[in-house]
Amino acid sequence: MDLIFEKSIPGKKLSLLPECDVPEVSFSPDVTRSEQPKLPQVSETEISRHYTQLARQAYGVNDGFYPLGSCTMKYNPKINETVAADQRLTDIHPLQPVSSLQGWLEIYHLAETYLSEITGMDAVNFQPAAGAHGEYTGLQLIKAYHTANNDTKRDKIIVPDSSHGTNPASGAMCGYKVVSVPSNEEGGLDLEKLAEAASDDTAGLMLTNPNTLGIFDKDILKITQIIHEAGGLCYYDGANLNAIMGIVRPGDMGFDVMHMNLHKTFSTPHGGGGPGSGPVACKEFLAKFLPGRHAEKSETGSYDFVSYPNSLGSVGMFYGNALVVVKALAYLLTLGREGVPYTARNAVLNANYMKAKLEDIYSIPYAKNCMHEFVISAEGLKRETGVTAMDIAKSLIDYKIHPPTVYFPLIVHEALMLEPTETETKETLDRAVSVLRKIYEEAKKDPEKLHGAPHDAAIKRPDEVNAARHPVVRYEFGKEE
Ligand SMILES: Cc1ncc(COP(=O)(O)O)c(C=O)c1O
Repeated sequence: MDLIFEKSIPGKKLSLLPECDVPEVSFSPDVTRSEQPKLPQVSETEISRHYTQLARQAYGVNDGFYPLGSCTMKYNPKINETVAADQRLTDIHPLQPVSSLQGWLEIYHLAETYLSEITGMDAVNFQPAAGAHGEYTGLQLIKAYHTANNDTKRDKIIVPDSSHGTNPASGAMCGYKVVSVPSNEEGGLDLEKLAEAASDDTAGLMLTNPNTLGIFDKDILKITQIIHEAGGLCYYDGANLNAIMGIVRPGDMGFDVMHMNLHKTFSTPHGGGGPGSGPVACKEFLAKFLPGRHAEKSETGSYDFVSYPNSLGSVGMFYGNALVVVKALAYLLTLGREGVPYTARNAVLNANYMKAKLEDIYSIPYAKNCMHEFVISAEGLKRETGVTAMDIAKSLIDYKIHPPTVYFPLIVHEALMLEPTETETKETLDRAVSVLRKIYEEAKKDPEKLHGAPHDAAIKRPDEVNAARHPVVRYEFGKEE
């Protein structure tokens, strides 16, 4: 498809604006352009068609099944978008007098109350704008705690070898040395190796449970105990809370601090660059270090924004991405006390259903019951037919299914990680299963076809590393060929 600049023809324009009927003002030349901007010159119809065609090439949850593991691309009720677009919420400034923000403060207070209850934590702060940002903030709380105790030799953060990539990255960004502990044959954390790694230089552990294999670690109480006995704190990566919410609580598993991804679990679309929200939640003894301010209710029923006594400062703007908090609260109020665990059960049921329908042909390295997602290995199929995880993923595009996460977690070779999510119907899951079974048969009969997939997509196999590391997002004039 041509770029909009390639459609440009000099002199074509769209003149909808009336003649200027106010005096023209001239600016001094040092603040004005010396030449006209090189904007594409196209008609209105062409602009409209160009962007409509581009939009049609994108694929989102409203187009079809999107089982991207670990990233939770799920349907989010549109009613929550309507609620968040209410002018009474949008036409407001965070620096307005608190007396005129009482409704907003109530929203924050309620969201903090419900999310504290769901996580088993005592305080929630909404300033972080993403999951990784919440991790960074949570680790800063851990650092502030050790510093306040004059325990400054703790310079290591332990992560499992199955951890989500942002965990070691956040540890490193906070200046910690990151120590990786291997998983055991069941996909949980190796307790012996953990005990060897935990010592008086351990600042903390970062762990997600269920982990990136979709497995709930049954040893979680022993794990958090080992870290606490070594004097460290336990950080829970709660990005995928849809697997456990309303059923078990990180606070009860022994975790001290955590984040949630409101843009995965609680009704804000994930991806596309935001806005997101990765609130950090913690136990009472860490709350004094939280960033920014939070909404507190007085005895008279009015609300105020209150700072934390030993706050680590600010990690973002004002009170975070406020409208994402509104969507989360609207979602929680819609689900109610029964709906929250029901949602989690459906996330787990859907993943186990798909896994059970595929495990007779695909190899599932950690074959236990999974939580919200499961990981297939195409290693055997690759050995037999040459067809890789990437070939399977690309082939799904021809069947109008978004590829799952591939080659992650790193401990599974030729990994395909599928998260069907709680919002898909049985019919959608059955179709996806039959497509995956068909692709398996095709791999045996005609591997070449799969090596060339997708056959029916605008973009086929771009150099993904190059595209991510060196994106070309600016048109360069004179380079057209
Ligand atoms: C387990 C886990 N941790 C952390 C993150 C990071 O969240 P974000 O992309 O909002 O930074 C994700 C993202 O999907 C995740 O799946």
